Amino acid sequence: MKILDGSSLSKKIRETLRKKLSKISGPKPGLAVILVGSDPASEIYVSKKEKLAKEVGFHSEVHRLPKDTSQNDLLKCIETLNGAQNIHGILVQMPLPKHIDTQAILHAVLPNKDVDGFHPTNLGRLMMGHPRFVPCTPAGILRLLKEYQVEISGKKAVILGRSLIVGKPLAHLLLNENATVTLCHSKTKNLKAECQSADILISAMGKPAHIDASFIKEGAVVIDVGINRMNQKIIGDIDFNSVSKKASFITPVPGGIGPMTIAMLLENTLKAFEIK
Ligand code: GUN
Repeated sequence: MKILDGSSLSKKIRETLRKKLSKISGPKPGLAVILVGSDPASEIYVSKKEKLAKEVGFHSEVHRLPKDTSQNDLLKCIETLNGAQNIHGILVQMPLPKHIDTQAILHAVLPNKDVDGFHPTNLGRLMMGHPRFVPCTPAGILRLLKEYQVEISGKKAVILGRSLIVGKPLAHLLLNENATVTLCHSKTKNLKAECQSADILISAMGKPAHIDASFIKEGAVVIDVGINRMNQKIIGDIDFNSVSKKASFITPVPGGIGPMTIAMLLENTLKAFEIK
């Protein structure tokens, strides 16, 4: 069994970015993150994105808006950032409060500044097989698999969770790599049998340590996107101790996909700067 070490790959990617940014004379690429409300998990993610963006040399700003911000005020904030010369990437942290229509917000971000890859234009391009901005978590998963030369073409990939942030874009990304993809969700019948057929299993369902060795085919590659908080500890969807005995490759939590997501966000931001 080998560990897919997202922490060290993320560090390597950020170091490459730091060198590239140091060669840019004049204003640096700018990333703006919008956080509405104070969801504790989102607070942690956003602070991390800001810290690492600065470390690499980006101009980084976080717009913290109160929980009761109206949809219109949020749209105005996005409009301002769409027009800002010093901002190349815009990210609206999910989830948004219930009174805000997430779809309307995702449509509002300028596609060329959409470093999250959630705008219909960018999701459509991914689906058509010529992506521009790929959502950061799926992009991070693919990069990690490639770094460890995991073969994807012709393999059976099973994804648990159909969110817009992970499951759906990842399905298209792996399909573009010629995997045979199964997308499972809460209504899937016999989840265990689906998992047992997977050469590559990716879990993004948010159930702590739900997947144990009995779900795993011998030699499978197992990717854990779950971030579940239990008694101050972060636990993935995968029961690492039991699954690692059967898997050929496995990601740890923390230190697997989380750091990769941020590395991909920063790469997308440099790409947005270069497109401009
Ligand atoms: N919430 C959890 N993951 C993400 C992400 O990648 N982007 C945004 N905007 N919100 C998230």
